[in-house]
Amino acid sequence: MSTEKEPEVLVASDLPALIEKGARRVMARITSGGPKIAICLTGGSTPKPLYRRLSEEPYRSKIPWDKVHWFWGDDRFVPHDDERSNAGMARAALLDRVPVPAANIHTVRTDVANAHEAARLYEEDLKRFYGQDRLDADRPLFDLVLTGLGGDGHTASLFPGNSSLNETKRWVVGIDEAGLAPFVPRITLTFAALASTRELTFLVSGPDKRDVVDRVLSGQDFPATRAHSNGNLVWMLDRSAAPERYPTSRVVP
Ligand code: 6PG
Repeated sequence: MSTEKEPEVLVASDLPALIEKGARRVMARITSGGPKIAICLTGGSTPKPLYRRLSEEPYRSKIPWDKVHWFWGDDRFVPHDDERSNAGMARAALLDRVPVPAANIHTVRTDVANAHEAARLYEEDLKRFYGQDRLDADRPLFDLVLTGLGGDGHTASLFPGNSSLNETKRWVVGIDEAGLAPFVPRITLTFAALASTRELTFLVSGPDKRDVVDRVLSGQDFPATRAHSNGNLVWMLDRSAAPERYPTSRVVP
């Protein structure tokens, strides 16, 4: 865990409660955002029910779809209609079900030569949205970054032992070899870009993640431990993924 600040750890009693808490968190970030809001989505299987929930009431009619821009923390270098695509998953679960303007969906292009070209183009898109080439610590790129945790302690597509962990200048990099399935090239935000947010929230569920959650929150060195935020750093867990020392949180209204 970065030394900047201790994370806020919120534990929901079960997965449905985690999803509801997560939807409220996303809604709160959107409601408190400015005229242009940037939400950075994560991939994998955990967030899918959260995305589906945001497409339903009361969120569907509360979210100002024309003001919110949607990004990804990482994606797999596969066509968007490939079942492994993070963009494809979020579109099917949420973005294709709600009135979001096409220009507000900032996918990683995978119809280019390779993951490195995809990373270069995605970085250009992010810089165009942000309005400059350098990230200011006091002007976050994102209002909220959702991110997950892999069993090997990776987050986004920042895998253990990969040189991308040491990238300090670029916002997005291509990853030739994923450390966990699916073993396809990836595109990932770097730690610097992930940190440029009002809130970085890990969303983790399931008993198979409890051990790695415990090790990351205990400070053992994994990519997820190095993730930091210029704003809030939050872990949202369901009970089965949460180490015993973290009590189940009261369901916030
Ligand atoms: C990806 C994700 C990755 C994911 C974790 C957890 O592209 O795979 O961004 O970082 O969040 O691997 O995945 P699950 O939610 O499927 O366990």
